[in-house]
Amino acid sequence: MTALLRRAMLATTFIGLTLTGAAAQEKPKAEVIHWWTSGGEAAAVKVFADKFNEAGGEWVDSAIAGGEASRSATINRIVGGNPPTAAQFNTGKQFQDLTQQGLLNSIEELAVAGKWRDFMPPSFVEASTKDGQFYAVPINVHGQNWMFYSKDVFEKSGVAAPPATFDELFSALDKIQAAGFIPLAQGGELWQERLLFNAVLLGVAGRDVYMKIYQDRDEAALQSPEFLKAVETFGRLRQYADQGSAGRNWTDTAALVITGKAGIQIMGDWAKGDFKAAGQTAGQEFGCALTPGEPTFMIGGDVFVFPKTSDAEQVKAQNLLATVMLEPETQVAFNTVKGSVPIRSDIDTSSLDECAKKGLDYLKSPDTQVGNSELLISSDLNGSLGDIITEFWNDPSASAEDMVAAYGEALQSID
Ligand code: GAL
Repeated sequence: MTALLRRAMLATTFIGLTLTGAAAQEKPKAEVIHWWTSGGEAAAVKVFADKFNEAGGEWVDSAIAGGEASRSATINRIVGGNPPTAAQFNTGKQFQDLTQQGLLNSIEELAVAGKWRDFMPPSFVEASTKDGQFYAVPINVHGQNWMFYSKDVFEKSGVAAPPATFDELFSALDKIQAAGFIPLAQGGELWQERLLFNAVLLGVAGRDVYMKIYQDRDEAALQSPEFLKAVETFGRLRQYADQGSAGRNWTDTAALVITGKAGIQIMGDWAKGDFKAAGQTAGQEFGCALTPGEPTFMIGGDVFVFPKTSDAEQVKAQNLLATVMLEPETQVAFNTVKGSVPIRSDIDTSSLDECAKKGLDYLKSPDTQVGNSELLISSDLNGSLGDIITEFWNDPSASAEDMVAAYGEALQSID
């Protein structure tokens, strides 16, 4: 059981899943908890809400800023016996406990009828199912090791092309700094620092070492010169972040690149949603390229889960939500504003922007993609590794060797 669920169960008097029986409603009403509050995210969730309402439902929006806060609220509501109709998690192991404890409704019937297994990436099917049943609907694929850059800042700093190696990246950062801009737009939250570290790890150490560490927890990979080099490279990036980085969220951080104050942000492609919401176009005001290294797309995504209920109206609303979210038209409209790519491989994606098209190319082969840490390791371990990364990032005197040792210990001792 994750620490989050354990805490929620301890803190709440478990009053069981008494269901607000309620009089039959005319429209299936769905309260949906999610953490999509930035400009791009709000535009994207509005697509879901509008499509659900058009399909005859009534969307009740419960936005809670910050993934961690949103997921905690969902777990507390479920354990407290007052679950929402649906709630967002990241694709992966974050909701595994809820499934195992029997706290979610199966949506297998919909999955069979809609042939979901035919068009979703197998690793996402695996992350959303237990004992052959779907308990979550994955709705997108987000690339997480993108560099988004301001073309204006690059031009004014004399950076001719997006860096393709780490040497080129450091040279570009130096030039941007010399020209008086913030070189690296970096926010100051645990998950943002972890995302940066994982992007650097993948780029510097390569896909094999990355997978050996997260999937196999391989001692030799943890002791390898490649892993140490990745930690050192990550540490070297500290000097390019600005003073305001501490505690800053990702959307305010993306705004630095959007407004031409900073050169590069390494972030998931939800950031692209913010560039678009600000009226910018990929390839015009901003560009995108994968973080240096052998081109490998680090992927994750979002799912919605449907807390257990036997209230027929709620089940109806849950089924309608899952159906609407996966409709081809909704998928294209939603992902276009969200910055991600559709979860369906069977739809026309020709209208997507040039970054999304690059992403779709990487997704064609298993050799150019890896799962992010949410897909590969438990939430508890991911949280502990995040603590180690954050501590290292925020203490310029911390030694890379100590971080390597702490990382190895956590990977060997936490499930
Ligand atoms: C991620 C999520 C994205 C994005 C981001 C920032 O966890 O997968 O959809 O919104 O958080 O809020």
